[in-house]
Amino acid sequence: MKRPIGMLDSGVGGLTVVRELMRQLPKEKIIYIGDTLRCPYGPRPFEEVRKFTWELVRFLLTYNIKMLVIACNTATAVVLDELQRSLDIPVVGVIAPGTRAALKVTRSKRIGVIGTKGTIHSDAYQKSLKMIDNYVYVKSVACPDFVPIVERGDFHKKQTFEIVKKNLLPFQFEEIDTLILGCTHYPLLQKQIQKAMGRRVTLINSGEETGRELSTILQYSNLLNIYALEGKHKFFTTGDAAMFEKIASQWLDEKNYVTQQIRLE
Ligand code: DGL
Repeated sequence: MKRPIGMLDSGVGGLTVVRELMRQLPKEKIIYIGDTLRCPYGPRPFEEVRKFTWELVRFLLTYNIKMLVIACNTATAVVLDELQRSLDIPVVGVIAPGTRAALKVTRSKRIGVIGTKGTIHSDAYQKSLKMIDNYVYVKSVACPDFVPIVERGDFHKKQTFEIVKKNLLPFQFEEIDTLILGCTHYPLLQKQIQKAMGRRVTLINSGEETGRELSTILQYSNLLNIYALEGKHKFFTTGDAAMFEKIASQWLDEKNYVTQQIRLE
């Protein structure tokens, strides 16, 4: 089916999921919206995250999307269930795929989760992990400093590593062997996070896992596009298109997209 896949995030973070989708399903067309203007969502009250997410969803629905990907952990934690109940297309979030991947990898069953304040306070990962395995130990830590660094494109600045290290200090004596990057912005800081945690800890990029899950769902629901990709992917941002484009070009291997600033009414 030629209809596009809709994806949303509070900003550029969802591009970590886009990259996987482009790699794993190169014939699928993506319509992405990042609410950069109102990013971060992490510290906002749940009701506000819910309202903003619905605005993004309504925008994407005007593109006749065949599937919706909530490429934002915070929005997944707050509105996924409601969206799945309300829409008549498949709606996929990023928390369940990250959970499954972590449980596959861990040996000690001591798992760390990092995310925005919203995601961590919602306890969504803890619940999702415990639902599958009651004996798993979960240590969750909010890292509110990370998203602004990523949105500014400051990945390579020297002080970034110091900030990352400081935020991860609560894991120092926890002896976890797996760490879930429970925010789609965080894989852009993967190198620094890995360095701070040490080589023995496996990082789980929920975006990567979600990419895998999407192929299965599209195939299962008979929604795969079997024709060649026509035209370009479309990336919309409510913020500065040049900044968005700069981060997209650093992160994505392909250049087959157009970026446009929009205003949500
Ligand atoms: N990238 C988002 C997430 O996965 C949200 C970051 C934010 O807006 O705080 O949670």
